[in-house]
Amino acid sequence: MSAFTTELHGQVAVVTFDLPGEPVNKLTAAVKVEFEALLIRLRDDADTRAVVLVSGKPNTFIAGADIEEFTALTTQAEAERLSFEGQEMVSRVETLPKPVVAAIHGACLGGGLELALACHYRIATDHPKTQLGLPEVQLGLLPGAGGCQRLPRLVGLRAALDMILTGKSERAAKALRLGLVDEVVPRSILLRTAIAAAERLMRNGLPRRPPGGGLPALFLDRTPAGRQLVYRRAKAQVLARTGGHYPAPLAALETVRVGLEHGITAGLAEEHHAFGQLAVGDVSRKLVQVFFATTALKKDDGIEAGSASPRQIRRLAVVGAGFMGAGIAGTAVGNVEVDTRLKDADLARVGKGLGAATAILTNRLERRRITRPEYERLGALLSGSDAYAGFGRADLVIEAVFEELALKRKVLAEVEAATRPGTIYASNTSTIPIHQIAAEAQRPEQVLGMHFFSPVEKMPLLEVIPTSATAPEAIVTAVRFGRRMGKTVIVVGDRPGFWVNRILSPYLNEAGLMVTEGVPIELIDRTMTAWGFPVGPIALLDEVGLDVAHKAAETMHAAYGDRMKTGNALDRMLAAGRLGRKNGRGFYRYRDRHKAGPDNAVYGLLGARQVEDANPDAIERRLVHAMLNEAVAACAESVVRSARDGDIGAIYGIGFPAFRGGPLRVIDDLGASRVASALHELEDQYGERFRPAPALAEMARQGGRYYAT
Ligand code: 3HC
Ligand code: NAI
Repeated sequence: MSAFTTELHGQVAVVTFDLPGEPVNKLTAAVKVEFEALLIRLRDDADTRAVVLVSGKPNTFIAGADIEEFTALTTQAEAERLSFEGQEMVSRVETLPKPVVAAIHGACLGGGLELALACHYRIATDHPKTQLGLPEVQLGLLPGAGGCQRLPRLVGLRAALDMILTGKSERAAKALRLGLVDEVVPRSILLRTAIAAAERLMRNGLPRRPPGGGLPALFLDRTPAGRQLVYRRAKAQVLARTGGHYPAPLAALETVRVGLEHGITAGLAEEHHAFGQLAVGDVSRKLVQVFFATTALKKDDGIEAGSASPRQIRRLAVVGAGFMGAGIAGTAVGNVEVDTRLKDADLARVGKGLGAATAILTNRLERRRITRPEYERLGALLSGSDAYAGFGRADLVIEAVFEELALKRKVLAEVEAATRPGTIYASNTSTIPIHQIAAEAQRPEQVLGMHFFSPVEKMPLLEVIPTSATAPEAIVTAVRFGRRMGKTVIVVGDRPGFWVNRILSPYLNEAGLMVTEGVPIELIDRTMTAWGFPVGPIALLDEVGLDVAHKAAETMHAAYGDRMKTGNALDRMLAAGRLGRKNGRGFYRYRDRHKAGPDNAVYGLLGARQVEDANPDAIERRLVHAMLNEAVAACAESVVRSARDGDIGAIYGIGFPAFRGGPLRVIDDLGASRVASALHELEDQYGERFRPAPALAEMARQGGRYYAT
């Protein structure tokens, strides 16, 4: 079956791209062949004087090259050829002697945007699903079908680098401001406007566009000295952001540079060469796996397929208007547009919570993600109270009160009394098993955990935690609701700490122990950020709050015994009134809430003397293996349903380096026996807490792995 259909409107050929049997349009090898043949026909057809390219899919224009084809590439030469052929196809659009108009509705990404860039005119719909971007770096690649060449020429160097080096997408309004599209229209008139534009171009010739980038571009984009400055700055920013672990943005920067300084032919050659190198590299392989795992999770409701249907959530109630409650409320209103009621113990706290939830919307308004009328409408969905008034109408209640079992049980009982029998109840506890919270519940089948991460509006993960009594309907409802909030959702087992805090705990404990041994705070953090974490473990403790971390550590110790034994670092820090960033005193010093270097007084407080010659390799070995070992133990207890969930949870929940693929991929890459023998050595040196988990010893014996490939 054909991917393209053509219909003549006067002298304008409207080409509709609708890849049969696929949810999105993608540029597969077969599509390229068909499209090139079509271009020749259009060129030679005397009745066609202009072309409009439009998508037949509901929410995608073109999602880019077919990422699945990348996984089959085995050599650099093959990958180079794939990119070269993409460049050729796109160039044929640009050089077609008839104007081509791209009529863009929905995702226009990667190769899809590169194709649109080669068209002579671009019109996008103002719909939120319309997103234009070059996300290739997020797959460890660079735009390999001419995007590194055409985008800077169209929107200016700085704007192009901003998109290419981060992979972020832009909505139509911003794309128009950048000069990336020529017109923005409502969806209902997209085709009509595109045909009119094609007729105009047919009559008047191609549009002349002033170079993009505004006044500063005169120097920064259009003089060699200005551009050198931009390249230097961009490189420094990339290195700061990626720690040098991700080769793609640097290669993309170099490709853009070669193209602008030495001409488009040299740029295209550099582009397909670099694409070839990256596509068969390990980082890209890992990031592509992460892409497919994330995509698969979008369809995984955590229950046996078809065993229950999600309930519609029209009204949400949140108990506890503190840090997390407000974040949950603001994100739910902003992303799901659901009527949301906040409850706290007194009105002052309710007011504070409503303020913090509204701040999430204000931030979106300021960043022009929403319009003023949208802001007003969303804000009106938020309300608050110091009583359970209105809870009778709630479909879902999320509890985010203090981390105390007795309090959580009491709140659950109060909510059950104030709500209808069908209301689902979710606790946002970070460590307490849900079955303990639900022990006295009247309707345990409606109770589960929804563990968000802070800050809620930014962190992409949600753990949903059913108990053995939770109904499948409640699970699927929570999963779908979390997804609508914009989260990647994993369904995890009801064990203390669930998945993410479980694997984090021994890692943070070990880091605390190191400080009591006198290992320099900054060296510990620097070692782990060099390994790829966004923040080091000690800085993370300060961020989380030492009181919160202490409470979590106690719960974990009680549940898992000496393996999770904490040193006395947190006790002593708390006794000295140090809570971390929130009170400006933690392992680090803070000035105006900004980190101002490690606090050397901490060593005295912990009775330690700073070690002069601590070895980063030894630090890394201890910390990484503490986490890997716990990951194996938790997997063996079925805390996660699959290695995929475990790795995605670690990457999105704690920023485990994505280029390593997650802790379970790391174990596969190293080999279970190597991990086990490193743990044996650590056990000899530091004690029993490093004893390899029985499941790891078993994997080591049998040569077991988590993934087949
Ligand atoms: N290649 C292969 N498969 C793709 C794909 C792509 N570019 N884009 C989406 N898909 C598949 C998904 O894997 C999923 O498959 P499945 O149904 O078999 O599991 C299906 O399409 C639907 O995707 P989603 O569930 O993600 O649908 P959404 O509506 O939520 O999102 C989307 C749509 C925004 C297009 C999102 O899928 C996306 O971000 N896709 C990737 C975009 C991308 O990274 N493009 C760059 C590709 S690299 C490139 O173009 C190189 C070039 O420079 C040479
Ligand atoms: P917080 O201290 O900021 O907020 C708790 C709120 O609950 C306070 O406003 C308090 O007044 C309110 N509260 C207490 N008793 C109440 C009652 N009976 N009725 C109504 N409200 C009541 O705490 P935070 O950080 O928001 O944590 C809340 C929950 O979220 C805890 O269970 C915590 O473990 C969990 N969590 C916290 C994360 C974090 O990073 N802070 C991350 C993930 C989960």
